[in-house]
Formats: sequence, structure tokens, C-alpha cells
Amino acid sequence: MNKTYLIIGGTGGIGQAMVEQIIETNKNSNHSVLIFATFHRTVPNIKADNVHWLQMDVGDEESIAQAVDTIRQHSIHLDWVINCVGLLHTDTSQPEKALRQVETEFFLQNMQINALAGLLIAKHIKPLLSKAERSDGTPAIYATISARVGSISDNELGGWYSYRMSKAALNMGMKNLSIEWGRSLKNVCIVVMQPGTVNTQLSAPFQGNVAEGHLFSPAYSAECLLDVLSGVTAAQSGSFVDWSGASIPW
Ligand SMILES: NC(=O)c1ccc[n+]([C@@H]2O[C@H](COP(=O)([O-])OP(=O)(O)OC[C@H]3O[C@@H](n4cnc5c(N)ncnc54)[C@H](OP(=O)(O)O)[C@@H]3O)[C@@H](O)[C@H]2O)c1
Repeated sequence: MNKTYLIIGGTGGIGQAMVEQIIETNKNSNHSVLIFATFHRTVPNIKADNVHWLQMDVGDEESIAQAVDTIRQHSIHLDWVINCVGLLHTDTSQPEKALRQVETEFFLQNMQINALAGLLIAKHIKPLLSKAERSDGTPAIYATISARVGSISDNELGGWYSYRMSKAALNMGMKNLSIEWGRSLKNVCIVVMQPGTVNTQLSAPFQGNVAEGHLFSPAYSAECLLDVLSGVTAAQSGSFVDWSGASIPW
């Protein structure tokens, strides 16, 4: 089946690996694949005829709307949308080890990029997802990379207030959306995913305690996540799963 993807954050560690993996998997396929991929500050280095790059700042609703408008000029539908954007640290702020380090600006930045953006993207892409041509019966997908540390019941370590709270908020937002779209869209699956601990700039300062063999390459993580997504059904909409497809408690 011909398929149209939107990879948001396509120049990040996992996002770029997603774009590469989709190109590679479909290289010798008879079906046509169209990939829209977004970048923020990092200029993309993947060039392929079926990949269209768009700039998008997910912290700016106007920027999201403009990118979606551009997509609409090329394609009237999207089959899979995967949001690979995320923020854990910035040039000036690190995730908090203790309450005394919590600062309003960094907290709100986490909430905006990790939580609110997922809702705003959904708001603008809904018309394109609703027109997905699902002739093979599989659902259209709206997936967002979350993080296991956004699980409230799994939290035994504490710390990382802004990141943990923003990922928990993202999870609630996507669960809520799955209920709303479950009523208004016919065949769509909304998923939040834990990609494993992956060797990217986001995790680089925190890889010291990762047990041997547990640090994934972006390529391996992307391959696993895409494999999980290829097997989901609309009945699984509103789930929180890891790279192996195992369910994570909220
Ligand atoms: N790596 C891990 O171990 C791990 C573990 C659990 C969950 N995750 C989650 O996995 C996702 C991908 O992370 P990653 O490891 O691939 O990190 P990454 O390499 O740092 O990629 C993050 C991406 O987010 C983009 N981004 C940041 N702010 C943005 C904004 N305002 N607008 C648009 N894009 C923006 C970055 O673009 P610019 O650099 O151009 O700003 C970058 O492309 C994140 O949601 C992260 O929380 C990662």
C-alpha cells in the first residue's frame, strides 16, 4: 500500500534514524512512499526524492500550522505521524536533581515542547489523518515518543521534575485524545512510546549508569519502534508501550 509519513524532529537522534529506516525498508518496494520530515535548528543531511523537509518549531503554533499547510499542498492525507521531538536539557539548564533546582522558565519550556506540542500538532494534522486511505485495514497512526520516566507508577528514583512531569502530561494528553478521536475518526491509533535508552545528544550526559548492552543505537531503537507500530490496531489506541511492544503502566 502507498504510504505517507510525517516524521517530526527528523534531524534528532531517533527521528533521523526513523527517516533512514523508512527509506531503507521501502527501497525495493513496489509501493510508493512519501516522507515529510521536519527539522528545527539542525539542518537535515538526508537527501532523497521522496523526502520533503519542512522547518517546524513545535513551540510555536503558527510554525506547526504553516508546515501542515505545506504538506496539504503536496498530499491530502497522512498515514503515519511520528513525533520524535523532545527536550531534557538545554545549553543553560539540566534536569533537576532536587526541588531547590526547579525553575519556572525551564519547567514551562519542558511542558511546551514535550507536552503541549503533541496536542497542537494533533489539532492541525487531524484533517490529514482523517483522510488516510486505509485500504489494507491497518489504522492511521499518531505516535509520540514519550519516556518511561513519565510513568507515575514506575517512578522510584525521583528527580527530573520538569521532564517527568512534562512526559506524564504528554501521556495524559494522548490518552485523552485517543478517547476523543475514538469517537470522531474511524480507524486511527494513538500511541506513546518509550524508545529504550538511546545513544543521542539528549541522553549523552546521563549514560554513565546504563548497564552494558542496554544503550541502544538510534537505528536499533527506530527499527524496533517502527516494527511495533506496524502491528498496532485501532483497538490499541491510547496505549503506552516500549520499544519491544510491552505495555508500560501509567
Ligand atoms: N535518547 C534517549 O535515551 C531517550 C529515552 C527516553 C525517551 N526519549 C525521547 O525520545 C525523543 C527523541 O529524543 P532523542 O534521543 O532522539 O533526542 P535528540 O537527538 O536531542 O532529538 C530531539 C529533537 O527534538 C528537536 N527539538 C527540540 N526542540 C524543538 C522545537 N522547539 N521544535 C522542533 N523540534 C525541536 C531537536 O531539534 P534541534 O536540535 O534542531 O533543536 C531534535 O531534533 C524525545 O522525545 C525524548 O524525550 C529519548
